[in-house]
Amino acid sequence: MPVVVVVGAQWGDEGKGAMVDTLAEDADIVVRFQGGANAGHTVIYKGKPVALHLIPSGITHEHTVCVIGNGVVVDPKALLDEIESLSSLGISITPERLKISDRAHLTLPYHRMLDAAREMAGSRLRLGTTRRGVGPTYVDKVDRVGIRVGDLKFPERLEAKLRINWEHKQAFFNALPPDERPDFNAVLDELLRYADLLQPYITDTVTWLNEQANAGKRILLEGAQGTGLDVDFGTYPFVTSSNTTAGGACTGSGLPPTKITSVLGIAKAYTTRVGEGPFPTELHGEEQVKLREKGREYGATTGRPRRCGWFDAVLVRYAATVNGCTALALTKLDVLSGYPEVKICVAYRWRGETLTTFPAESFVLEEVEPIYETLPGWDEPLSECRSWEKLPANAQRFVMRLQELVGVPIATVSVGPERSCVLMKPDAPSIW
Ligand code: GDP
Ligand code: IMO
Ligand code: MG
Repeated sequence: MPVVVVVGAQWGDEGKGAMVDTLAEDADIVVRFQGGANAGHTVIYKGKPVALHLIPSGITHEHTVCVIGNGVVVDPKALLDEIESLSSLGISITPERLKISDRAHLTLPYHRMLDAAREMAGSRLRLGTTRRGVGPTYVDKVDRVGIRVGDLKFPERLEAKLRINWEHKQAFFNALPPDERPDFNAVLDELLRYADLLQPYITDTVTWLNEQANAGKRILLEGAQGTGLDVDFGTYPFVTSSNTTAGGACTGSGLPPTKITSVLGIAKAYTTRVGEGPFPTELHGEEQVKLREKGREYGATTGRPRRCGWFDAVLVRYAATVNGCTALALTKLDVLSGYPEVKICVAYRWRGETLTTFPAESFVLEEVEPIYETLPGWDEPLSECRSWEKLPANAQRFVMRLQELVGVPIATVSVGPERSCVLMKPDAPSIW
Protein backbone atom coordinates (compact mmCIF):
# COMPACT_ATOMS: atom_id res chain seq x y z
CA MET A 1 0.00 0.00 0.00
CA PRO A 2 2.57 2.63 -1.01
CA VAL A 3 1.72 6.26 -0.39
CA VAL A 4 4.65 8.38 -1.56
CA VAL A 5 5.03 12.09 -0.87
CA VAL A 6 7.04 14.13 -3.39
CA VAL A 7 8.29 17.52 -2.18
CA GLY A 8 10.60 20.26 -3.41
CA ALA A 9 13.81 20.49 -1.38
CA GLN A 10 14.82 24.00 -2.49
CA TRP A 11 12.84 27.10 -3.53
CA GLY A 12 10.57 25.44 -6.10
CA ASP A 13 11.03 24.47 -9.75
CA GLU A 14 13.22 21.50 -8.85
CA GLY A 15 11.58 19.37 -11.53
CA LYS A 16 8.78 17.94 -9.35
CA GLY A 17 6.37 17.76 -12.29
CA ALA A 18 8.76 15.78 -14.48
CA MET A 19 9.52 13.39 -11.61
CA VAL A 20 5.86 12.89 -10.65
CA ASP A 21 5.04 12.28 -14.32
CA THR A 22 7.74 9.58 -14.40
CA LEU A 23 6.68 7.94 -11.14
CA ALA A 24 3.01 8.14 -12.13
CA GLU A 25 3.62 5.34 -14.60
CA ASP A 26 3.32 3.08 -11.54
CA ALA A 27 0.70 5.11 -9.67
CA ASP A 28 -3.06 4.69 -9.47
CA ILE A 29 -3.68 8.15 -8.03
CA VAL A 30 -1.79 11.47 -8.00
CA VAL A 31 -2.86 14.14 -5.51
CA ARG A 32 -1.96 17.83 -5.27
CA PHE A 33 -2.17 18.81 -1.59
CA GLN A 34 -1.35 22.54 -1.32
CA GLY A 35 -0.66 25.70 -3.24
CA GLY A 36 -2.74 26.86 -6.18
CA ALA A 37 -2.22 28.20 -9.67
CA ASN A 38 1.08 29.72 -8.47
CA ALA A 39 2.66 26.35 -9.30
CA GLY A 40 4.05 25.59 -12.74
CA HIS A 41 4.93 21.92 -13.15
CA THR A 42 6.33 20.94 -16.53
CA VAL A 43 5.75 17.52 -18.04
CA ILE A 44 6.66 16.39 -21.53
CA TYR A 45 3.66 15.22 -23.54
CA LYS A 46 4.07 13.95 -27.10
CA GLY A 47 7.56 15.49 -27.15
CA LYS A 48 6.46 18.96 -26.04
CA PRO A 49 6.55 20.68 -22.62
CA VAL A 50 3.18 21.26 -20.96
CA ALA A 51 3.01 23.45 -17.84
CA LEU A 52 0.45 22.28 -15.27
CA HIS A 53 -0.75 24.70 -12.61
CA LEU A 54 -3.60 23.11 -10.66
CA ILE A 55 -3.97 19.70 -12.26
CA PRO A 56 -1.66 17.01 -10.86
CA SER A 57 1.27 15.86 -12.99
CA GLY A 58 -0.18 12.37 -13.46
CA ILE A 59 -2.80 13.58 -15.93
CA THR A 60 -1.06 12.42 -19.11
CA HIS A 61 -1.25 8.78 -17.94
CA GLU A 62 -4.66 7.48 -18.93
CA HIS A 63 -4.78 4.99 -16.06
CA THR A 64 -4.14 7.60 -13.36
CA VAL A 65 -6.83 9.38 -11.35
CA CYS A 66 -5.86 12.92 -10.36
CA VAL A 67 -7.07 14.61 -7.20
CA ILE A 68 -7.02 18.27 -6.20
CA GLY A 69 -6.90 17.91 -2.43
CA ASN A 70 -8.51 19.94 0.34
CA GLY A 71 -5.30 21.87 0.99
CA VAL A 72 -5.20 23.38 -2.49
CA VAL A 73 -6.68 26.80 -3.27
CA VAL A 74 -8.60 26.53 -6.53
CA ASP A 75 -9.05 29.40 -8.94
CA PRO A 76 -12.06 28.06 -10.90
CA LYS A 77 -11.30 30.17 -13.94
CA ALA A 78 -7.67 29.04 -14.06
CA LEU A 79 -8.80 25.43 -13.58
CA LEU A 80 -11.39 25.53 -16.37
CA ASP A 81 -8.86 27.18 -18.70
CA GLU A 82 -6.37 24.44 -17.85
CA ILE A 83 -8.94 21.69 -18.47
CA GLU A 84 -9.72 23.26 -21.84
CA SER A 85 -6.12 23.64 -22.91
CA LEU A 86 -5.27 20.05 -21.89
CA SER A 87 -8.35 18.79 -23.75
CA SER A 88 -7.16 20.61 -26.86
CA LEU A 89 -3.93 18.59 -26.63
CA GLY A 90 -5.96 15.38 -26.55
CA ILE A 91 -5.74 14.76 -22.79
CA SER A 92 -9.21 13.75 -21.76
CA ILE A 93 -10.40 15.12 -18.45
CA THR A 94 -13.52 13.51 -17.03
CA PRO A 95 -14.97 13.25 -13.51
CA GLU A 96 -13.63 9.67 -13.44
CA ARG A 97 -10.09 11.03 -13.95
CA LEU A 98 -10.22 14.28 -11.98
CA LYS A 99 -11.67 14.75 -8.50
CA ILE A 100 -11.74 18.09 -6.70
CA SER A 101 -12.07 18.22 -2.95
CA ASP A 102 -15.25 19.76 -1.61
CA ARG A 103 -13.11 21.18 1.21
CA ALA A 104 -10.66 23.07 -1.05
CA HIS A 105 -10.98 26.86 -0.93
CA LEU A 106 -11.86 28.99 -3.95
CA THR A 107 -9.75 31.84 -5.28
CA LEU A 108 -12.13 34.62 -6.36
CA PRO A 109 -11.32 37.36 -8.90
CA TYR A 110 -10.63 39.90 -6.16
CA HIS A 111 -8.08 37.64 -4.45
CA ARG A 112 -5.91 38.17 -7.49
CA MET A 113 -6.53 41.93 -7.21
CA LEU A 114 -5.57 41.90 -3.51
CA ASP A 115 -2.39 39.99 -4.30
CA ALA A 116 -1.38 42.49 -7.01
CA ALA A 117 -2.33 45.51 -4.88
CA ARG A 118 -0.05 44.37 -2.07
CA GLU A 119 2.79 43.79 -4.51
CA MET A 120 2.38 47.30 -5.88
CA ALA A 121 1.92 48.99 -2.50
CA GLY A 122 5.62 49.55 -1.92
CA SER A 123 8.91 47.75 -1.70
CA ARG A 124 8.56 46.90 2.01
CA LEU A 125 5.59 44.61 1.34
CA ARG A 126 6.81 43.24 -1.97
CA LEU A 127 7.48 39.51 -2.03
CA GLY A 128 7.58 38.96 -5.77
CA THR A 129 4.48 36.74 -5.67
CA THR A 130 3.02 35.10 -8.75
CA ARG A 131 -0.06 37.35 -8.31
CA ARG A 132 -2.37 34.36 -8.64
CA GLY A 133 -4.32 35.33 -5.50
CA VAL A 134 -2.95 32.42 -3.52
CA GLY A 135 -1.92 34.33 -0.35
CA PRO A 136 -5.22 36.23 -0.01
CA THR A 137 -7.22 33.00 -0.50
CA TYR A 138 -5.35 31.30 2.34
CA VAL A 139 -5.86 34.44 4.47
CA ASP A 140 -9.62 34.05 4.02
CA LYS A 141 -9.43 30.33 4.80
CA VAL A 142 -7.66 30.95 8.11
CA ASP A 143 -9.87 33.97 8.81
CA ARG A 144 -12.89 31.66 8.36
CA VAL A 145 -14.58 33.71 5.66
CA GLY A 146 -13.51 31.59 2.69
CA ILE A 147 -15.76 29.99 0.11
CA ARG A 148 -15.10 26.32 -0.54
CA VAL A 149 -15.49 24.20 -3.63
CA GLY A 150 -18.29 22.27 -1.86
CA ASP A 151 -20.29 25.49 -1.56
CA LEU A 152 -20.72 25.35 -5.35
CA LYS A 153 -22.98 22.33 -4.83
CA PHE A 154 -25.51 24.52 -3.04
CA PRO A 155 -26.11 27.55 -5.30
CA GLU A 156 -28.93 28.75 -3.07
CA ARG A 157 -26.45 29.22 -0.20
CA LEU A 158 -23.66 30.68 -2.31
CA GLU A 159 -25.01 34.22 -2.34
CA ALA A 160 -25.04 34.45 1.48
CA LYS A 161 -21.50 33.05 1.67
CA LEU A 162 -20.24 35.45 -0.94
CA ARG A 163 -21.88 38.31 0.94
CA ILE A 164 -19.86 37.51 4.07
CA ASN A 165 -16.62 37.41 2.11
CA TRP A 166 -17.60 40.61 0.29
CA GLU A 167 -18.27 42.51 3.52
CA HIS A 168 -14.92 41.39 4.81
CA LYS A 169 -13.28 43.07 1.78
CA GLN A 170 -15.14 46.39 1.98
CA ALA A 171 -12.19 48.50 3.10
CA PHE A 172 -10.14 47.23 0.17
CA PHE A 173 -12.95 47.75 -2.36
CA ASN A 174 -13.63 51.28 -1.07
CA ALA A 175 -9.99 52.23 -1.57
CA LEU A 176 -10.22 51.34 -5.27
CA PRO A 177 -11.25 53.90 -7.90
CA PRO A 178 -15.01 53.40 -8.43
CA ASP A 179 -14.61 52.01 -11.96
CA GLU A 180 -12.22 49.31 -10.68
CA ARG A 181 -14.45 48.04 -7.86
CA PRO A 182 -15.79 44.54 -8.52
CA ASP A 183 -19.52 44.13 -8.90
CA PHE A 184 -21.21 41.70 -6.50
CA ASN A 185 -23.76 40.36 -8.97
CA ALA A 186 -21.18 39.89 -11.69
CA VAL A 187 -18.95 37.87 -9.36
CA LEU A 188 -21.92 35.82 -8.13
CA ASP A 189 -23.03 35.08 -11.71
CA GLU A 190 -19.51 34.04 -12.61
CA LEU A 191 -19.37 31.70 -9.61
CA LEU A 192 -22.74 30.16 -10.50
CA ARG A 193 -21.47 29.49 -14.01
CA TYR A 194 -18.39 27.76 -12.61
CA ALA A 195 -20.62 25.82 -10.22
CA ASP A 196 -22.45 24.25 -13.16
CA LEU A 197 -19.24 23.34 -14.95
CA LEU A 198 -17.36 21.97 -11.93
CA GLN A 199 -20.24 20.15 -10.22
CA PRO A 200 -19.41 16.68 -11.63
CA TYR A 201 -15.83 16.81 -10.33
CA ILE A 202 -16.64 17.79 -6.74
CA THR A 203 -15.93 14.88 -4.40
CA ASP A 204 -15.43 14.13 -0.72
CA THR A 205 -11.81 13.33 -1.56
CA VAL A 206 -10.88 12.78 2.09
CA THR A 207 -13.18 9.75 2.34
CA TRP A 208 -12.43 8.61 -1.21
CA LEU A 209 -8.65 8.77 -0.80
CA ASN A 210 -8.70 6.87 2.47
CA GLU A 211 -10.87 4.17 0.88
CA GLN A 212 -8.43 3.91 -2.00
CA ALA A 213 -5.44 3.73 0.34
CA ASN A 214 -7.19 1.01 2.36
CA ALA A 215 -7.82 -0.89 -0.88
CA GLY A 216 -4.06 -0.90 -1.51
CA LYS A 217 -3.97 1.67 -4.32
CA ARG A 218 -0.62 3.26 -5.13
CA ILE A 219 -0.83 6.94 -4.32
CA LEU A 220 1.55 9.81 -5.10
CA LEU A 221 1.16 13.07 -3.19
CA GLU A 222 2.59 15.89 -5.30
CA GLY A 223 3.91 18.95 -3.50
CA ALA A 224 4.11 22.39 -5.06
CA GLN A 225 6.76 25.07 -4.39
CA GLY A 226 9.58 23.88 -2.12
CA THR A 227 10.84 23.68 1.47
CA GLY A 228 12.49 27.12 1.31
CA LEU A 229 9.04 28.57 0.49
CA ASP A 230 7.15 26.75 3.29
CA VAL A 231 5.24 29.23 5.47
CA ASP A 232 6.72 27.71 8.65
CA PHE A 233 10.09 26.32 7.59
CA GLY A 234 11.01 28.60 4.70
CA THR A 235 12.66 32.01 4.52
CA TYR A 236 9.77 33.85 6.18
CA PRO A 237 8.32 36.29 5.16
CA PHE A 238 9.67 35.48 1.67
CA VAL A 239 7.58 32.34 1.40
CA THR A 240 4.31 31.13 -0.07
CA SER A 241 1.20 30.84 2.13
CA SER A 242 1.04 27.07 2.63
CA ASN A 243 2.95 24.14 4.11
CA THR A 244 4.88 22.85 1.15
CA THR A 245 6.61 20.19 3.24
CA ALA A 246 5.62 16.58 3.95
CA GLY A 247 3.33 17.46 6.88
CA GLY A 248 1.25 19.47 4.42
CA ALA A 249 0.67 16.28 2.43
CA CYS A 250 -1.43 14.95 5.34
CA THR A 251 -3.32 18.12 6.20
CA GLY A 252 -3.85 18.85 2.52
CA SER A 253 -5.17 15.43 1.51
CA GLY A 254 -6.74 13.89 4.61
CA LEU A 255 -4.42 10.89 4.40
CA PRO A 256 -2.97 10.49 7.90
CA PRO A 257 0.79 10.31 8.69
CA THR A 258 0.44 6.60 9.45
CA LYS A 259 -0.45 5.94 5.81
CA ILE A 260 2.63 7.66 4.33
CA THR A 261 5.22 5.06 3.35
CA SER A 262 8.02 7.24 1.92
CA VAL A 263 9.01 10.83 1.22
CA LEU A 264 10.98 11.75 -1.89
CA GLY A 265 12.71 15.13 -1.90
CA ILE A 266 13.43 16.67 -5.31
CA ALA A 267 16.56 18.79 -5.63
CA LYS A 268 18.24 20.37 -8.62
CA ALA A 269 22.00 19.89 -9.02
CA TYR A 270 22.19 23.67 -8.46
CA THR A 271 19.75 26.17 -6.93
CA THR A 272 17.17 28.59 -8.30
CA ARG A 273 14.71 31.00 -6.76
CA VAL A 274 12.01 33.28 -8.21
CA GLY A 275 10.86 36.42 -6.42
CA GLU A 276 12.34 38.21 -3.42
CA GLY A 277 14.17 36.70 -0.47
CA PRO A 278 17.59 35.55 0.70
CA PHE A 279 19.60 33.21 -1.52
CA PRO A 280 23.11 32.60 -0.13
CA THR A 281 24.59 30.83 -3.16
CA GLU A 282 23.14 33.17 -5.77
CA LEU A 283 25.53 33.95 -8.62
CA HIS A 284 25.75 37.43 -10.08
CA GLY A 285 26.42 39.06 -13.42
CA GLU A 286 27.57 36.89 -16.29
CA GLU A 287 27.94 33.81 -14.10
CA GLN A 288 24.25 33.94 -13.22
CA VAL A 289 23.23 34.54 -16.84
CA LYS A 290 25.35 31.59 -17.99
CA LEU A 291 23.67 29.16 -15.58
CA ARG A 292 20.21 30.55 -16.34
CA GLU A 293 20.69 30.09 -20.07
CA LYS A 294 22.23 26.62 -19.72
CA GLY A 295 19.34 25.50 -17.49
CA ARG A 296 16.66 27.50 -19.35
CA GLU A 297 15.60 28.89 -16.01
CA TYR A 298 12.48 30.90 -16.73
CA GLY A 299 9.27 30.57 -14.69
CA ALA A 300 6.69 28.08 -15.97
CA THR A 301 3.87 30.25 -14.55
CA THR A 302 5.03 33.86 -14.92
CA GLY A 303 7.93 33.57 -17.40
CA ARG A 304 10.14 35.52 -14.97
CA PRO A 305 13.89 34.82 -15.15
CA ARG A 306 14.87 32.62 -12.20
CA ARG A 307 17.74 33.64 -9.96
CA CYS A 308 20.46 30.97 -10.18
CA GLY A 309 23.35 29.74 -8.03
CA TRP A 310 25.32 26.73 -6.81
CA PHE A 311 23.90 23.78 -4.86
CA ASP A 312 23.29 24.66 -1.21
CA ALA A 313 23.82 21.54 0.91
CA VAL A 314 22.80 23.39 4.10
CA LEU A 315 19.35 24.07 2.63
CA VAL A 316 18.85 20.58 1.19
CA ARG A 317 20.05 18.89 4.41
CA TYR A 318 17.50 21.00 6.30
CA ALA A 319 14.84 20.02 3.75
CA ALA A 320 15.71 16.34 4.21
CA THR A 321 15.26 16.78 7.96
CA VAL A 322 11.95 18.64 8.05
CA ASN A 323 10.42 16.43 5.36
CA GLY A 324 11.86 13.19 6.72
CA CYS A 325 13.08 12.36 3.21
CA THR A 326 13.69 8.66 2.68
CA ALA A 327 15.36 9.41 -0.65
CA LEU A 328 16.27 12.28 -2.94
CA ALA A 329 15.86 12.66 -6.70
CA LEU A 330 18.56 14.86 -8.17
CA THR A 331 17.51 16.69 -11.34
CA LYS A 332 19.18 18.73 -14.09
CA LEU A 333 22.65 17.26 -13.61
CA ASP A 334 23.08 17.65 -17.39
CA VAL A 335 23.03 21.44 -16.99
CA LEU A 336 26.38 21.42 -15.16
CA SER A 337 28.31 19.84 -18.08
CA GLY A 338 31.05 22.13 -19.35
CA TYR A 339 32.03 23.73 -16.04
CA PRO A 340 35.74 23.11 -15.33
CA GLU A 341 34.85 23.18 -11.61
CA VAL A 342 31.55 22.73 -9.77
CA LYS A 343 30.82 24.16 -6.34
CA ILE A 344 28.78 23.00 -3.36
CA CYS A 345 27.96 25.22 -0.40
CA VAL A 346 28.74 23.11 2.70
CA ALA A 347 28.22 25.73 5.44
CA TYR A 348 27.70 29.47 5.94
CA ARG A 349 30.00 32.03 7.54
CA TRP A 350 28.15 34.65 9.56
CA ARG A 351 29.75 37.32 11.72
CA GLY A 352 32.80 35.15 12.32
CA GLU A 353 30.77 32.00 13.11
CA THR A 354 30.36 28.87 10.98
CA LEU A 355 26.71 27.88 10.56
CA THR A 356 25.95 24.32 9.52
CA THR A 357 22.18 24.52 10.04
CA PHE A 358 19.62 26.66 8.22
CA PRO A 359 18.87 29.78 10.29
CA ALA A 360 15.31 30.93 11.02
CA GLU A 361 15.95 34.62 10.37
CA SER A 362 15.96 35.83 6.78
CA PHE A 363 18.28 38.74 7.63
CA VAL A 364 20.91 36.25 8.81
CA LEU A 365 20.63 34.37 5.52
CA GLU A 366 20.98 37.69 3.68
CA GLU A 367 24.23 38.32 5.51
CA VAL A 368 25.85 34.87 5.37
CA GLU A 369 28.72 34.06 3.10
CA PRO A 370 28.64 30.58 1.60
CA ILE A 371 31.58 28.28 2.34
CA TYR A 372 32.21 26.32 -0.84
CA GLU A 373 33.79 23.01 -1.59
CA THR A 374 35.06 22.88 -5.17
CA LEU A 375 35.05 19.66 -7.20
CA PRO A 376 36.40 18.96 -10.67
CA GLY A 377 33.74 19.31 -13.37
CA TRP A 378 33.09 17.34 -16.56
CA ASP A 379 32.85 18.33 -20.20
CA GLU A 380 30.75 15.52 -21.64
CA PRO A 381 27.08 16.29 -22.34
CA LEU A 382 24.92 13.96 -20.24
CA SER A 383 21.59 14.16 -22.01
CA GLU A 384 22.20 10.93 -23.94
CA CYS A 385 23.36 8.95 -20.88
CA ARG A 386 20.85 6.26 -20.05
CA SER A 387 22.47 4.67 -17.00
CA TRP A 388 24.35 5.72 -13.89
CA GLU A 389 27.36 3.72 -15.06
CA LYS A 390 27.62 5.83 -18.24
CA LEU A 391 27.97 9.11 -16.31
CA PRO A 392 31.48 10.61 -16.30
CA ALA A 393 33.45 9.80 -13.15
CA ASN A 394 33.47 13.44 -12.01
CA ALA A 395 29.69 13.69 -12.37
CA GLN A 396 29.31 10.54 -10.26
CA ARG A 397 31.74 11.95 -7.72
CA PHE A 398 29.72 15.19 -7.48
CA VAL A 399 26.50 13.22 -6.88
CA MET A 400 28.13 10.99 -4.26
CA ARG A 401 29.47 14.04 -2.42
CA LEU A 402 26.02 15.68 -2.42
CA GLN A 403 24.56 12.48 -1.01
CA GLU A 404 27.16 12.45 1.75
CA LEU A 405 26.57 16.11 2.63
CA VAL A 406 22.77 15.85 2.63
CA GLY A 407 22.76 12.54 4.48
CA VAL A 408 19.97 10.91 2.45
CA PRO A 409 20.36 8.36 -0.35
CA ILE A 410 19.99 9.78 -3.85
CA ALA A 411 17.68 7.36 -5.66
CA THR A 412 17.66 8.88 -9.14
CA VAL A 413 19.67 11.33 -11.20
CA SER A 414 17.98 13.15 -14.10
CA VAL A 415 19.84 14.26 -17.20
CA GLY A 416 16.97 15.74 -19.21
CA PRO A 417 13.26 16.58 -18.95
CA GLU A 418 11.92 13.31 -20.44
CA ARG A 419 10.92 10.18 -18.54
CA SER A 420 13.76 8.24 -20.15
CA CYS A 421 16.26 10.73 -18.67
CA VAL A 422 15.66 9.60 -15.10
CA LEU A 423 18.52 7.24 -14.20
CA MET A 424 18.25 4.88 -11.22
CA LYS A 425 21.29 4.95 -9.00
CA PRO A 426 22.54 1.47 -8.09
CA ASP A 427 21.88 0.38 -4.48
CA ALA A 428 19.32 3.20 -4.12
CA PRO A 429 16.23 2.59 -2.02
CA SER A 430 13.12 1.83 -4.00
CA ILE A 431 10.86 4.86 -4.22
CA TRP A 432 7.61 2.90 -4.19
P1 GDP B 1 8.59 22.04 -10.91
O1 GDP B 1 7.87 23.30 -10.61
O2 GDP B 1 9.37 21.54 -9.74
O3 GDP B 1 7.72 20.98 -11.51
O4 GDP B 1 9.68 22.42 -12.02
P2 GDP B 1 9.43 23.31 -13.36
O5 GDP B 1 8.66 22.49 -14.32
O6 GDP B 1 8.91 24.64 -12.98
O7 GDP B 1 10.92 23.53 -13.81
C1 GDP B 1 11.76 22.45 -14.12
C2 GDP B 1 12.19 22.58 -15.60
O8 GDP B 1 13.29 21.73 -15.83
C3 GDP B 1 11.13 22.15 -16.58
O9 GDP B 1 11.26 22.92 -17.74
C4 GDP B 1 11.45 20.69 -16.85
O10 GDP B 1 11.01 20.25 -18.14
C5 GDP B 1 12.95 20.74 -16.80
N1 GDP B 1 13.62 19.52 -16.31
C6 GDP B 1 13.23 18.65 -15.35
N2 GDP B 1 14.20 17.74 -15.11
C7 GDP B 1 15.23 18.06 -15.94
C8 GDP B 1 16.54 17.53 -16.14
O11 GDP B 1 16.98 16.59 -15.48
N3 GDP B 1 17.33 18.14 -17.07
C9 GDP B 1 16.89 19.22 -17.80
N4 GDP B 1 17.74 19.76 -18.66
N5 GDP B 1 15.67 19.74 -17.62
C10 GDP B 1 14.86 19.18 -16.71
P1 IMO C 1 6.44 25.35 -8.32
O1 IMO C 1 5.36 24.45 -7.75
C1 IMO C 1 8.98 28.82 -7.59
C2 IMO C 1 7.28 32.00 -5.10
C3 IMO C 1 6.99 33.34 -5.73
C4 IMO C 1 7.24 34.25 -4.54
C5 IMO C 1 6.69 33.44 -3.38
C6 IMO C 1 5.27 33.79 -2.97
O2 IMO C 1 6.37 25.50 -9.79
O3 IMO C 1 7.77 24.97 -7.79
P2 IMO C 1 2.91 33.24 -4.12
O4 IMO C 1 2.38 33.58 -5.47
O5 IMO C 1 2.98 31.79 -3.84
O6 IMO C 1 2.24 34.00 -3.01
O7 IMO C 1 4.44 33.81 -4.13
O8 IMO C 1 6.74 32.09 -3.79
N1 IMO C 1 6.65 30.83 -5.77
C7 IMO C 1 7.32 29.93 -6.50
N2 IMO C 1 8.62 29.89 -6.86
N3 IMO C 1 8.15 27.81 -7.94
C8 IMO C 1 6.86 27.83 -7.56
O9 IMO C 1 6.02 26.81 -7.75
C9 IMO C 1 6.38 28.95 -6.85
N4 IMO C 1 5.16 29.30 -6.34
C10 IMO C 1 5.35 30.45 -5.68
O10 IMO C 1 7.87 33.59 -6.80
O11 IMO C 1 8.62 34.39 -4.33
MG1 MG D 1 7.67 25.25 -11.36
